[in-house]
Amino acid sequence: MTAEPINFVTYCGSKANQVVPVKTTRSIGARECLVEVTHSGYCATDTYFTGVPMGLGHEGVGVVRQLGPAVTQHKVGDRVGWGFVHEACFNCKQCLSGGEIYCLKRKMYGYGNLDQGSLATHAVWDENFLFPIPDAMTSADAAPLMCAGASVFGSLQQRGYKSSDRCGIVGIGGLGHLAIQFAHKMGMEVVTFSTTEAKREEALAFGADEFYVLPRTAGAKLPEGIRRLDHLLVCSTAQPDWHVFLNVLEPRATIYPLTAFEKDVTYPHLDLIFSGVTIQGTMIATKQGYVDMLRFCIQHKIKPVNQEYPMTVEGIEKCNHDLKAGTIRYRGVLVAEGADRSGETVLDPETAKAEPEVTKVTVVVDGEKNGVTNGSSGHDVMEIA
Ligand SMILES: NC(=O)c1ccc[n+]([C@@H]2O[C@H](COP(=O)([O-])OP(=O)(O)OC[C@H]3O[C@@H](n4cnc5c(N)ncnc54)[C@H](OP(=O)(O)O)[C@@H]3O)[C@@H](O)[C@H]2O)c1
Ligand SMILES: [Zn+2]
Ligand SMILES: [Zn+2]
Repeated sequence: MTAEPINFVTYCGSKANQVVPVKTTRSIGARECLVEVTHSGYCATDTYFTGVPMGLGHEGVGVVRQLGPAVTQHKVGDRVGWGFVHEACFNCKQCLSGGEIYCLKRKMYGYGNLDQGSLATHAVWDENFLFPIPDAMTSADAAPLMCAGASVFGSLQQRGYKSSDRCGIVGIGGLGHLAIQFAHKMGMEVVTFSTTEAKREEALAFGADEFYVLPRTAGAKLPEGIRRLDHLLVCSTAQPDWHVFLNVLEPRATIYPLTAFEKDVTYPHLDLIFSGVTIQGTMIATKQGYVDMLRFCIQHKIKPVNQEYPMTVEGIEKCNHDLKAGTIRYRGVLVAEGADRSGETVLDPETAKAEPEVTKVTVVVDGEKNGVTNGSSGHDVMEIA
């Protein structure tokens, strides 16, 4: 640990459902880095946590400003990004077989390190979950890849898709618009389903081969004659009516219901049995998946389409409002004042020493849960007075 704890500002949710700037005090552990945040994407998952007293944001990009004494993977001045998972034990069955994101001792957004987030001036993270941003990529473009990109790339790369497959993508938002680009460049036929007719042209420009408007009324159907799909990547904030897809899925197709913090998946049971369909859980990308994704984006010129906001209370609240209203095309990105949009940063490292306006916080490690379960042991609870 460094001798002197460091103070910085983290934008937190609150029981009043308002964004609150909070003073976070951290020491830098042996294998941790202090990162000055320059950019953060705003994921639909964040909208579920604005009412929880915890640091918001999990699509962070910034510049390494200080290193713990045992850090070997990064150096001061490096640009790095991070996503949903921040820590794992690296010594269990999952960790030792490349499944560190499923480690039972993992710490992840909403469940651990609650005093920190990517909507902040700084954060202190384990070096193992900080990913170097390639020089050829701007920090603004890298931010949405840290959750949205990794979530869809992880599924597309690690779950047995083939380039000859037909891949359905439901919901064209932050995740969906990147999924179309990835699946297209991986060589698949990409079939998109959206509730918004106005997204047709852009979906085709992202690389979709087909675009269908999803019926919103119960019992309504998709047009006849859609050739069947081998995969259905569900990137919408609400689960679709599964009946709509029964005639569109190939027997033994796989469904990936990425939609989080929603109701349980209730799939027509006999259809599941008779068609041999698999419903496959999937969450972000492994560490190797992140490295591969960043390289794949450079190689294939894949970029998110961003809508920028200032990284302030007002900026975050406006972004949250616009995301819920469905007006963002296609990912909201919060940009810190002074961050150079070309990817370099001009922020002042001295700001880490500033004493911001604070709200009193208490962090209890391994305490009571935040009312949500994650299948892991260890939950932090943060109270904002
Ligand atoms: N499993 C994971 O690893 C993981 C990771 C990140 C996020 N997520 C979850 O993935 C989901 C999408 O996140 P996102 O950040 O991409 O959200 P987003 O940017 O809001 O995009 C979601 C899209 O869903 C569609 N949609 C919105 N309201 C809908 C409704 N009532 N019924 C049907 N479709 C609706 C819209 O697309 P159209 O206009 O095209 O219909 C919208 O653009 C969220 O539930 C999020 O929590 C999961
Ligand atoms: Zn996310
Ligand atoms: Zn582990």
